[in-house]
Amino acid sequence: MVEILPLGRFQLHQQRFEFKRLVPAFLSTYYKTLFAVLWIAAFVSVFLWQRNAVGVRFSFFRGAGSGRPMPRLRPFAFNLTDFGGVGDGVTLNTEAFERAVSAISKLGKRGGGQLNVPPGKWLTAPFNLTSHMTLFLAENAEILGIEDEKYWPLMPPLPSYGYGREHMGPRYGSLIHGQKLKDVVITGHNGTINGQGQSWWKKYRQKLLNNTRGPLLQIMWSSNIVITNITFRDSPFWTIHPYDCKNITIRNVTILAPIFEAPNTDGIDPGKYT
Ligand SMILES: *[C@@H]1O[C@H](CO)[C@@H](O)[C@H](O)[C@H]1NC(C)=O
Ligand SMILES: *[C@@H]1O[C@H](CO)[C@@H](O)[C@H](O)[C@H]1NC(C)=O
Ligand SMILES: *[C@@H]1O[C@H](CO)[C@@H](O)[C@H](O)[C@H]1NC(C)=O
Ligand SMILES: *[C@@H]1O[C@H](CO)[C@@H](O)[C@H](O)[C@H]1NC(C)=O
Ligand SMILES: *[C@@H]1O[C@H](CO)[C@@H](O)[C@H](O)[C@H]1NC(C)=O
Ligand SMILES: *[C@@H]1O[C@H](CO)[C@@H](O)[C@H](O)[C@H]1NC(C)=O
Ligand SMILES: *[C@@H]1O[C@H](CO)[C@@H](O)[C@H](O)[C@H]1NC(C)=O
Repeated sequence: MVEILPLGRFQLHQQRFEFKRLVPAFLSTYYKTLFAVLWIAAFVSVFLWQRNAVGVRFSFFRGAGSGRPMPRLRPFAFNLTDFGGVGDGVTLNTEAFERAVSAISKLGKRGGGQLNVPPGKWLTAPFNLTSHMTLFLAENAEILGIEDEKYWPLMPPLPSYGYGREHMGPRYGSLIHGQKLKDVVITGHNGTINGQGQSWWKKYRQKLLNNTRGPLLQIMWSSNIVITNITFRDSPFWTIHPYDCKNITIRNVTILAPIFEAPNTDGIDPGKYT
């Protein structure tokens, strides 16, 4: 081994020497230039091809319906777009959600229905859920609560308080709401329910609100509720508020809100007395 190494080096030297001696100097330069040009061309095309491949993969994951397939968890499954939903972050989808919930409310005796929310930003005012319903949020699906409080219905105060907690009289309902329901599942591939609470927190601090802020999800007097595999973000007020419910499971849920200047954005406030 030790002896082969110098021999190898020597042979290499000799070959280079012979090559130089045989080829005229101008030709050698010509081939070197050609080789360099070809090498650069190859490098650039590989780079472009790679960039293209990354772009294709990117749009593959973001493209509606072509991401992770949504499992069927009920005998009947619907797409929010079947009811006129538009996930552009601007169009108001309240009616699409209401029409979907109304369709599912008729399927209770047949095992209920699943509402798939595809990737996109789905702006909405508050809406109610129904019994025997699964709300499934795709990866990169985001339900956005409308910021303008005029769209938020007022509700009687919680019996536990007897008044609106932050203000006398009625309180704002929750973005997603349900009363006297059975068998409701809110789940997905870690899609997000976003309350866009920033404007509420600001108005609260400036004392511009006349009624108590609403939670992100509030389910009252209900049973057999499952909330899993999704993210809740920036609630105007408390995030998840199960009120006087039986058999409620909350598992593998992410709850996000800023540490500062996001007043009362508690994560989960189960209770009959809160
Ligand atoms: C939902 O509808 C949209 C628009 O029609 C479509 O692109 C998407 O694939 C559908 N998704 C599911 C899960 O059916
Ligand atoms: C939602 O449910 C509440 C309580 O049952 C009810 O007062 C309210 O009218 C419902 N809202 C809609 C839009 O159906
Ligand atoms: C929790 O949710 C994430 C995102 O949807 C998922 O990847 C993970 O497998 C889930 N874990 C459990 C224990 O369900
Ligand atoms: C779910 O999404 C949230 C927000 O994007 C993220 O913080 C969290 O880590 C995700 N969870 C999993 C298990 O991927
Ligand atoms: C609160 O009440 C005042 C006085 O009636 C009114 O001018 C204002 O628009 C109300 N604000 C909201 C957010 O409803
Ligand atoms: C609790 O709820 C889960 C999910 O809906 C259901 O499978 C289970 O049977 C319920 N348990 C009881 C004791 O009602
Ligand atoms: C949560 O997500 C994980 C991974 O996708 C899945 O295995 C699990 O069944 C889900 N859990 C529920 C309760 O949906």
